[in-house]
Amino acid sequence: MKILAIMGSSRKNSNTDKFLELFVKKFKLQDEDLEKYTLRDLNYDGCTSCYGCGRVPKCVVKDDLTEIYSKIEEADLIIVSTPIYFNSVSSLTKQFIDRTQVYWSRKFILKLRPIKEKYGIALINGGAFNQENQFLGSELVFDHFFKATSCKKNMFVEVSNTDRFPINENNDEFVSFLDSIKLDFNVSNVYRFEGGINEN
Ligand SMILES: Cc1cc2nc3c(=O)[nH]c(=O)nc-3n(C[C@H](O)[C@H](O)[C@H](O)COP(=O)(O)O)c2cc1C
Repeated sequence: MKILAIMGSSRKNSNTDKFLELFVKKFKLQDEDLEKYTLRDLNYDGCTSCYGCGRVPKCVVKDDLTEIYSKIEEADLIIVSTPIYFNSVSSLTKQFIDRTQVYWSRKFILKLRPIKEKYGIALINGGAFNQENQFLGSELVFDHFFKATSCKKNMFVEVSNTDRFPINENNDEFVSFLDSIKLDFNVSNVYRFEGGINEN
């Protein structure tokens, strides 16, 4: 199985990175053909809205994201891990996602057949305690991303309170939460973990 894993935090080895790492380990995905990209290590811009992708089925901007398009197209599974920033995904993640507009154009402007169907996983963590709509902004962004990239089936894994209870292998509650997740590529699912005791 070909897997593309995207780490969308500005910090390495922090909640978002650990979330991805522990998720991958839990399901032994490292034994598959997995490629991980850490967005903050890449030199790229957001979409410039040039609509070059409305003329040819590719992104005409050349930068460090250029090589990722073939990985997106070939992948059987795409995992994106992001922190919540201002109720949405991080700007690194959003800039990456905006660049997949190429797949929207492919479908709706060029009327080409969509890319290979695949499974999508969004790992989202927020530092604040669990609250209504905490994940809504990110869910809407990922919903559109999954549609564009042909992730018809997908999974959202959402964790709150990571500023108080960081994600790591010593966080027993988080580890048990991960243990409760069933990875079934035939169904879409949402898993949410409040991440410790709310104090407010
Ligand atoms: C600019 C910025 C905005 C943030 N906005 C939110 C927010 O709207 N909701 C929330 O729950 N946490 C918010 N946080 C907290 C982060 O989601 C939290 O610290 C997360 O675990 C950071 O991931 P990292 O450890 O991988 O950097 C924000 C943090 C930053 C730096």
